[in-house]
Amino acid sequence: MTAPFVTRVSRADAAAVGDAVRCLKAGGLVAFPTETVYGLGADAADGRAIARLYEAKGRPAFNPLIAHVADLPAARALARFDAEAEKLAEAFWPGPLTLVLPKSSGCPVADLATAGLDTIAVRVPAHPVARAILRAFGGPVVAPSANLSGHVSPTTAQHVHSDLTGRIDLIVDGGAVAVGVESTIVGCFETPMLLRPGGLPHGEIERVLGRLLVQAPTDPGSDTSQPLAPGMLASHYAPRTPVRLNAVSVEAGEALLAFGDGVVPGADAAAVTMNLSAQGDLNEAAANLFGYLRALDLTRARAIAVMPIPHHGLGEAINDRLRRAAMGRK
Ligand code: TXA
Ligand code: MG
Repeated sequence: MTAPFVTRVSRADAAAVGDAVRCLKAGGLVAFPTETVYGLGADAADGRAIARLYEAKGRPAFNPLIAHVADLPAARALARFDAEAEKLAEAFWPGPLTLVLPKSSGCPVADLATAGLDTIAVRVPAHPVARAILRAFGGPVVAPSANLSGHVSPTTAQHVHSDLTGRIDLIVDGGAVAVGVESTIVGCFETPMLLRPGGLPHGEIERVLGRLLVQAPTDPGSDTSQPLAPGMLASHYAPRTPVRLNAVSVEAGEALLAFGDGVVPGADAAAVTMNLSAQGDLNEAAANLFGYLRALDLTRARAIAVMPIPHHGLGEAINDRLRRAAMGRK
């Protein structure tokens, strides 16, 4: 995709829902209303579409995304629900609650959407337009708030338009949303944790659980006691195999994670080579990143040598994640 291009705006009706579904199936980006805020949707199983989504939002890092589905049975195909998670889903879905749960083994959501984590954020939105799109699409749709990174979340189609026109394919205009703040996020761990306050008051959640939610830790590096971005709480995916960044040669016994069509000395002796993008396409590289790291981690190579990745566009986020991977497991 080469931005900018034309962004269509459609009033939410049956034809717009059909359009949205066709667009999602073709790997496109569709903004649509949920009851909390407008979301920017992409096919959750399509790594390339998700890479485009991060690019369109200008996300500095691959913060993991919420998978939206039409109902609880569809959510059970993505994640493992324990008794408390079932209770919360029964009580509050469809509605402004997101649950972070262990990913199921057959989960079709692309690694890039979950930032390589073993957990996944899932939500069943209540807005009729969101529900119609999800039902007709028939699979999970990832949807961060439809704003540029760093801007506030959009509550009207006009907000979406002013941030993202020329960067996405379609905006489905369903008028102003009802809730206006993002969903409440609860991590269903041994002790359920409030990861982000939002549209569903936490007291209501505690009443259903019959116990208090643990509060998410605050960022130790921040002097304003900011809560950590929820996705940063879980330890990010780090391979067991050491990761060596900016490799300009391959040493004996190393696997090579290549980028572009350049050749590095020692590459022919690499234990195994995977190329994030032979054409040097950063979107393709982003879509492949977590899957390739996992695959190379299984090869028992001594280390994973990673060729330098340019630092523009999605390269910034790729380098952020590679740096975390190189820090190893804590
Ligand atoms: O109301 C909402 O939740 C809206 C609408 C569109 O559904 N969506 C939304 O998405 O606010 P977004 O991407 O702006 O925020 C999602 C938050 C991020 O802070 C991310 O870190 C967190 O969810 N998150 C996603 N997956 C996670 C995971 N596996 N563990 C912890 N946090 C996660
Ligand atoms: Mg957001």
